[in-house]
Amino acid sequence: MAVATQPVHDASDLYVPRPVRVLEVREEIAPDPAAGTRRMVTLSLERGDLDYLPGQFLQVTAFGGGEVPISISSPGGMPGALYLTIRDNGVVSGMLVAAKAGDVVGVRGPFGNHFDLDAHRGRDLFFVGGGCGLAPLRGLYWEALLRRSDFGRIVLLHGSRCPGEMLYGWQWPDYERQGVEIHLSADRADDCWAREEHPPRCVGLITKLFDQAGIVPERASAFLCGPPIMIENGGRELVERIGLAPERVLGTLERHMKCGVGKCGHCVVVDRYVCIDGPVFSYEELAALGRIEPAW
Ligand SMILES: Cc1cc2nc3c(=O)[nH]c(=O)nc-3n(C[C@H](O)[C@H](O)[C@H](O)COP(=O)(O)OP(=O)(O)OC[C@H]3O[C@@H](n4cnc5c(N)ncnc54)[C@H](O)[C@@H]3O)c2cc1C
Ligand code: FES
Repeated sequence: MAVATQPVHDASDLYVPRPVRVLEVREEIAPDPAAGTRRMVTLSLERGDLDYLPGQFLQVTAFGGGEVPISISSPGGMPGALYLTIRDNGVVSGMLVAAKAGDVVGVRGPFGNHFDLDAHRGRDLFFVGGGCGLAPLRGLYWEALLRRSDFGRIVLLHGSRCPGEMLYGWQWPDYERQGVEIHLSADRADDCWAREEHPPRCVGLITKLFDQAGIVPERASAFLCGPPIMIENGGRELVERIGLAPERVLGTLERHMKCGVGKCGHCVVVDRYVCIDGPVFSYEELAALGRIEPAW
């Protein structure tokens, strides 16, 4: 099993958020109430001496609002800053998305297990990001790019409800220059989407991209994040139809969380704590848990 686990935390200051400054805010997706599109931003936060691994998350406090779990979407060891891409999903995330450079937010963590890239050395890597689910995968594929010669093909499959909700489009030209293959899907197309051919795209569910991505199952590993139904159906297709080994299909789950450290029980799925046994699980483990229920 290619999933690394973390010990249960027991430090006395475990529940005390540490104040960090917002260095920069990048607008990723503009809100469009008519289309039901929520605003998404990337906050660049001062990193200090905080070390983390791809797939881990922070409990992030908007002071006066509350705390929410957010994945770190930059590679570990990046000097100076770390990135969080946050969607305006409700009260606390809405306050975080409204943050300005110079504001202070709180962080606890990093928490959870992580993706173990070393276990996939020499393989083709397929990153399957549904909607804002691309954010938790970004630190991982960024890290793979920093170690480009360790891997075969690096393929990004990104799908969203409509073209306006694609994430990190401004980075695609740079990724492609580094040899990343990009394939896109939109549940609903618009005129502009249909007129363009690059990156290669389709109209339909993200799983439709599996056939055009040229996956050779014997040498592929896949990393999935998105709505539970996408992880469930995508994982099943990759294993049962395309033929990937179940331990080489990894998904990262979202659940309601409070403590983030295995104490409160809010994140339990069957007999696993998503905050400490996950959030990264192999398809093998997910299949053993049964249906991947939505977080809410
Ligand atoms: C490990 C992990 C990593 C995550 N990484 C990211 C990330 O990188 N970027 C990002 O934008 N979001 C991420 N989320 C989801 C984020 O935590 C929720 O959107 C946030 O908690 C919503 O809280 P709120 O107070 O803003 O909304 P509320 O007002 O509490 O709720 C608004 C809506 O969001 C739903 N919701 C509440 N908590 C969660 C949750 N934990 N997961 C999913 N939906 C929830 C509610 O049911 C409701 O429908 C992650 C969640 C987990 C568990
Ligand atoms: S969030 Fe409290 S046990 Fe997981």
